[in-house]
Amino acid sequence: MTTSGTLRWDAARLSAWSQPLLARVEDALSAWVGTDAPVQLGDAMRYAVLDGGKRLRPLLVFAASEAVCGQADATLRAACSVELIHAYSLVHDDLPCMDNDVLRRGKPTVHVKFGEADALLAGDALQALAFELLTPDGDGVEPAVQARLCRLLARSAGSLGMAGGQAIDLASVGRALDEKQLREMHRLKTGALLQASVEMGAACGGHVGPEAQASLSAYGAAIGLAFQVVDDILDVTADSAVLGKTAGKDAASDKPTYVSLLGLDGARAQARDLLAEALAALEQSALSDAEALRALAHMVVDRDR
Ligand code: IPE
Ligand code: IPE
Ligand code: MG
Ligand code: MG
Ligand code: MG
Repeated sequence: MTTSGTLRWDAARLSAWSQPLLARVEDALSAWVGTDAPVQLGDAMRYAVLDGGKRLRPLLVFAASEAVCGQADATLRAACSVELIHAYSLVHDDLPCMDNDVLRRGKPTVHVKFGEADALLAGDALQALAFELLTPDGDGVEPAVQARLCRLLARSAGSLGMAGGQAIDLASVGRALDEKQLREMHRLKTGALLQASVEMGAACGGHVGPEAQASLSAYGAAIGLAFQVVDDILDVTADSAVLGKTAGKDAASDKPTYVSLLGLDGARAQARDLLAEALAALEQSALSDAEALRALAHMVVDRDR
């Protein structure tokens, strides 16, 4: 039972909820991404986005939107737009000038398959497409909602979000960060986009009071940070075959992580604390339909890939 008195979703319930949504996201991404791009740019964009990934960020958008009775077209566009920013961030993160990785989502990375220049351009084009999706012609999505979604996504992707966090990451190789510095790096490079996913889902709803909004933001911030803590753990404990990316890269590249700072047990304890923080924020929100958000928080911390 949760403290709100409802039965906690098991894996089968989460899967029954998520499967149709994942199918809608795949269909929409397949229709929207790279279909009319010149030369091999479209192929590189589709390769980066389709057939892979857990799609956690889109699921967070759907779950938050559901909690506030969000509008369907806005929600699907928001879900796809965060996944495009995420996919672009992975393409650039894997480049030789950044993490220099050759395996992603169980396949050769985009620059290995298409070359560095096309990987760079595919990332650029995916980022632009994310904002195009949020600003459709016609009256399907209210202008004020379009503007709010763009602002939330832009802030989370930019210098005070993902890009800023990646800059700190690169500047921190071989350095021992203290817990405050590490938390800031992880919040920016990964947490910001996950938090934005929740906030964007909430922005698809009509009237979300300031308390519910603050609770959802606090939930998003906690699971966003937890997600990167668990990513650090899995880099040490999981196999490349399960992860779909090269395990053991953080230690090999001398990156400061929650595991290098706190050890495996300490990092696991951090992840559990952040899960508790996220669930407490949801309890405070008094949202009636937060079961999917609750289940996704557990998934973030209990995942094995
Ligand atoms: C990996 O993200 C990169 C980080 C932000 C830690 P995911 O683990 O969500 O990657 P996919 O989308 O499932 O491939
Ligand atoms: C990446 O963090 C965060 C991004 C913004 C892409 P990592 O470098 O740890 O992600 P993985 O482990 O390569 O997926
Ligand atoms: Mg990286
Ligand atoms: Mg990386
Ligand atoms: Mg990692």
